[in-house]
Amino acid sequence: MASQKSAKPAKLSTIVVTAITVAVAIGIWFTGQNSHAAGIEVKVPELSGIAQAGQRSFAKNCAQCHGPIGNGTKTGPPLIHIIYEPGHHGDAAFYRAVATGTRQHHWKFGDMPPQPHVKRVEVQAIIKFVREVQRNNGIN
Ligand code: HEC
Repeated sequence: MASQKSAKPAKLSTIVVTAITVAVAIGIWFTGQNSHAAGIEVKVPELSGIAQAGQRSFAKNCAQCHGPIGNGTKTGPPLIHIIYEPGHHGDAAFYRAVATGTRQHHWKFGDMPPQPHVKRVEVQAIIKFVREVQRNNGIN
């Protein structure tokens, strides 16, 4: 009998735990929808030599806004994101963004200022880095 009595509270606590889990999951989902959410999860593959050079250049010039591995920060969007798949934002978009900056249009972080100190050959390596990481995260 005693075991029957304790069965009820156990069930109730299961419901409570489930409810909390669902609430947290919804909360995380909402945070994901918020363009100001920093740092999405990104898996970095083994990088080619050029991509490694690109990663170093990215860390110096882009990471302050786009995150150390293109995962986004509070001041800039993740580039390892379906929006930036090659078919939607080809390599030209990268050269253009670095040379002339870009107006706020996909997110709510404000405009991207031009980065004229980053040479074209560096952008080329940065693109290689971004594309290799994108591919590793199912963005082709
Ligand atoms: C000061 C912050 C900042 C820095 C530094 C920065 N970006 Fe950005 N970048 C942004 C923001 C914000 C956006 C999003 C604009 C939007 O779509 O609303 C953006 C967008 C982009 C885009 C998409 C452009 C488009 O056509 O929509 C590319 C590509 C990009 N950045 C590459 C880079 C690279 C490469 C670097 C480093 C060389 C860099 N960014 C440095 C803030 C920054």
